[in-house]
Formats: sequence, C-alpha cells, structure tokens
Amino acid sequence: MIDNVIQEQRSAVREAPPTEGNRYKLFQREAASLTHHLIADYPEAFQLIYLDPPYNTRRSRGSRKHYRDRSARWSEQLHEVVSNTYKLLRRQGFLALSINQMELFNLKHICDTVFGSECFIGLFPVKIRHSERQLMINATYHDVYEYLLFYRKDKQTRFYTDQKHPRLEKFDHRIETLTDQPERRIIQGKEVEIYRPGQYKIHREAPAAHNLRRYIIAGKLATANWSGEFFESYLRPLGDNLLVRVPGLENEGLGYRWFQTQTAKRSSGVYFQSTLTAGRPVLPTNDLDFTEIVPNIYKEGGAGIDFKDSKKPEQLLEYILSITTRENDLVGDFYGGSGTTLARAIKMKRSCITGDSGAEAIEIITRRLANLREGKDIDGIQYNFTLESYGP
Ligand SMILES: C[S@@+](CC[C@H](N)C(=O)[O-])C[C@H]1O[C@@H](n2cnc3c(N)ncnc32)[C@H](O)[C@@H]1O
Repeated sequence: MIDNVIQEQRSAVREAPPTEGNRYKLFQREAASLTHHLIADYPEAFQLIYLDPPYNTRRSRGSRKHYRDRSARWSEQLHEVVSNTYKLLRRQGFLALSINQMELFNLKHICDTVFGSECFIGLFPVKIRHSERQLMINATYHDVYEYLLFYRKDKQTRFYTDQKHPRLEKFDHRIETLTDQPERRIIQGKEVEIYRPGQYKIHREAPAAHNLRRYIIAGKLATANWSGEFFESYLRPLGDNLLVRVPGLENEGLGYRWFQTQTAKRSSGVYFQSTLTAGRPVLPTNDLDFTEIVPNIYKEGGAGIDFKDSKKPEQLLEYILSITTRENDLVGDFYGGSGTTLARAIKMKRSCITGDSGAEAIEIITRRLANLREGKDIDGIQYNFTLESYGP
C-alpha cells in the first residue's frame, strides 16, 4: 500500500497550483491551552486531528540526550487535549494518535473515556526499524514498532476508500420487457412486477457497463444474501420461468433488482446485478512499513529540518490524510514538531492549524515552510500559500 521509497526529484523547480481558499495557522502554544482556545472559533470544524505527543519514555540517549519527553502530568494533559479535540472535531471527523508501547494502553484508555470505546477504529502498528539493525544492544529486545490509534466521533463513519471497479467481462446480459402491463403484487411491502413467459426476453450480448451480471442463486447466495433469501422465501413460490422486478431490495444503484425464477431445466433461481454496485471498496490496511524511509527522514522538508524528536515520515501523514480527509478539509496537529502534518496538508490542499510549545520546533517549522515556498523540499516543487503565525 505504501511505497517504501522516497521519491527524490531534485531536478528543476516546479510550481504547484496555488492552494485555493485553504488557510494555514501556526501557534507557539501548549497543546491543552491551544485546543481550549480554538474551541470558541472552531467548534466541530476539524475533519482530522492528528496528535503526536511526547511518548513519556525515559529514553534520552545519543542525539536525544537533551530531549525530555517525560512529564509527571502526561496523562492529565493528554486527557485534557483529547477532550478538547472531541469538541473540535466534526461529527464525521477522525482522531489519529501516534504513540509507542510505553503509554499505548494508557492513551487508549484516555481516548476510550472521551470518545467511547465503540468509537475506537483500530490499532495500526507502524514498523519504523529493521529487525536486523539492532543498535541498542543492552535492551532486552529490539522494538521495531510504533503505533497509530484511530478514533471516529461517530461510530458509523467509514474511512475514505478507493473503489475497485468490477470486471466488465461478466456484464453481458440485457433484459427486454415486452409489455408495460405486467402483473403487480405487493410482496413484503414492495410492489413487484411479474413478467410471464413471452412477456420478456433475456439477451446475451458483448460485455458493457450498461449490461447486467447474472448470478445463479445457489449455495451461500441462497442462504446468506438478502436477494437470495428474498428469492427463496417469496419469489420461488410464484412459479417457474417468471421475470420479477423487485424495487428497493438492496442498494442496487438501479433502485430495483431483476430475478428470474427456476425452470424445468434449472432448479435454482437467478438474479441480475448492475455495474453500479458491483465495485468493491479497497479497505485501508494497518500493514504500515516505513523502515526504508526512516533512515533518510532527516532529508524530508529540505535542509535544516533534521528534527530528532520522533519526526514522522510524510508518507505516514499522506496515508492518514488520504483515508480521513478530502481537499479543503480542516486538519489539526497540536504537537507539530518539525511540521510534517502542516507540510503534507499544504501539499494535499487541506487547511491546517498546528502548534507546538517549543521555540525550537516553531523555528524548524518556519524553516520547513520557507523551503516549501522556495521549492527546496525534496520534491523540488514551489508551494504558494499564506500562513498566519501566532507567538507565545
Ligand atoms: C513527537 S514530537 C512531534 C513530531 C512531529 N509529528 C513531526 O513529524 O515532526 C512532539 C512535539 O511535541 C512538542 N510538545 C511537547 N509537549 C507539548 C505540549 N504540552 N504542548 C504542545 N507541544 C508539546 C515537542 O516540542 C515536540 O516538538
């Protein structure tokens, strides 16, 4: 799903189309305070909020010597931020959070308390290290995963998905009715039309999108499928060799579904499906592997964006944004770090409000945005956007 290679296109600088009407805001402010402040102006306005807080570990070795990601008030602060986040999200909105195993269960508990456990969508392990590259030889084991948690505000909301088109070669039937006065009967509250032999023809033609696919109602189709069950219970008893049009049976796209009852030669019934509902969604997967990208992550954002505090791959944000948002939606990230979410939002034409409490992070984000404007990010494209900045 995710292409593991960073596409470096350093050649000529190209200009991206200007972001129409999208707004970008950057705050130097602590997350609980910023989210509280935003509620007045942006209640239920965000389609996605991504939170990548400090992981609350004791790890501070090597390049992270000066970095402190532990806080005695971690749970309390996260609870406050997640509660504010809930108020900021639209009804169809999503919350995504990055965390490692140290606080994973605690963070899930906090989010369950605020969103309700029924609004937890899933846990996406994110592979960030190669199994064989073991640098911390004093550790008990080599941890290669971080985690992404997804919540939705409304438990009915689904991720945006691509649609897999149906295989057209199966759509080779066309139905022709020869009377406009079929018998009409009410069956299970539906007005069905019944065409007797001689009142209809079923043609076999070259496959085409306007044609229908024929299914024999047998096996699971007869017992575990609405159309199949309806046929067996209510249409089979009508008699042999009838064409029956049933409205509103399934979400067929046409508004109705055609059936043909059994014949002397064929004991099973038949139904016909249009191409309108034959495609299938390609579901997002939680198989995320960034092991090829992480070693080069210091390059993302261009020169001077070598952020040591768990900088995320832009492809991770691209993935999150693509399944939870559409163009022009509003995205929030209140632990902005090096500005990965903001940069991806600009590239994907989403509006974005981000913040970070640290002066160093704000400086890096500002540099990253300058790189974007000048076409100095690794994609070599110049982005045109307006940013409003708010100091401490
Ligand atoms: C894990 S990093 C985020 C990395 C970011 N996703 C990226 O890709 O670069 C966490 C960030 O949260 C900031 N931070 C820590 N405590 C904070 C707080 N209470 N409010 C806002 N930001 C905070 C840190 O300065 C750090 O930049």
